Amino acid sequence: MLVLGLETSCDETGVALYDTERGLLAHRVYSQIAVHAEYGGVVPELASRDHVRKGLPLIREVMEEAGHTLQDLGGIAYTSGPGLVGALLVGACLGRSLAWSLGIPAVGVHHMEGHLLAPMLEDDVPEFPFIALLVSGGHTQLVKVEGIGEYELLGESLDDAAGEAFDKAAKMMGLPYPGGPALSKLADEGDAGRFSFPRPMTDRPGLDFSFSGLKTFTRTTILNCAVDGVLAEQDKKDIAAGFQTAVVDTLAIKCKRAMKQTGVNRLIIAGGVGANRMLREQLKVTAEQLKGRVYYPRPALCTDNGAMIAYAGAQRLNAGEVSDIAVSCVPRWPM
Ligand code: KG4
Ligand code: ZN
Repeated sequence: MLVLGLETSCDETGVALYDTERGLLAHRVYSQIAVHAEYGGVVPELASRDHVRKGLPLIREVMEEAGHTLQDLGGIAYTSGPGLVGALLVGACLGRSLAWSLGIPAVGVHHMEGHLLAPMLEDDVPEFPFIALLVSGGHTQLVKVEGIGEYELLGESLDDAAGEAFDKAAKMMGLPYPGGPALSKLADEGDAGRFSFPRPMTDRPGLDFSFSGLKTFTRTTILNCAVDGVLAEQDKKDIAAGFQTAVVDTLAIKCKRAMKQTGVNRLIIAGGVGANRMLREQLKVTAEQLKGRVYYPRPALCTDNGAMIAYAGAQRLNAGEVSDIAVSCVPRWPM
């Protein structure tokens, strides 16, 4: 079955064509970074309008690249939450009405389930059960995955998500939006040992996270280093390196704990922060220490994309799930 996937929950328009026999046939992601950059963050109304503008052209490009027409489709999957409600509604209305006009089923997909299943799009597919570390701009969660739709939440962030912490720390340092990748690049040239960033909540039992303390530590360090309100380039690099290492260490400690606690030694990493090179390297070592393995999607499938929605939707359609013609989206939706 050929499934078209549409992702419009935030500031990326993602479109993909997934075949349940042949795998991912084509995918495109259009990023709205340039639209939002001058505001320092995502402006919801501008996001919705840009999704309207890019949805159909991207669908056309993907179908052409894969050598298929809309008539070949067996189903359509769209992100129905969580996310910005206006942005979600654009993808949902587009997907649902296209499916109706073609006489095929459509299904709404949970954005985080999409991230969670993204590693299944790669050649090297992890076996169930596995532990998933979901690290995006809106979520930081550890989940035990027994199978498709069988998810047990082991721990989550009590305040900021890891990606959000990256973005806020980057903003304090005057880095451009979105801050995560920019901060990570700067960190490569810094001395992580110069400042003693904390590893929040690692000294007590449990699998929850908290990243707001790191934000405060970053702010204080910036204030201490800045001369007349200006940070020297090397200070920026050292703060970035200290910050990144603290986040990565904290995530690695909790992943190790989750794997030990459950006896499951397969770990997958998903979500935008999963594109972070240091995190990928460190978690590989962590999994190997436990005689296990780590699996991650290629960086382009870690950040928001339509392929993960097409894959998750294909599983749900295969299981007979279909969304009603009355489109509904859920801005806040626990998985
Ligand atoms: O999953 P995603 O694309 O969108 C959400 O669903 O939130 O994640 C975006 C988040 C942003 O906070 C971004 O700064 C972060 O992922 N991010 C990174 C890197 N690439 C993206 N954070 C750290 N290092 C990176 N290389
Ligand atoms: Zn996401």
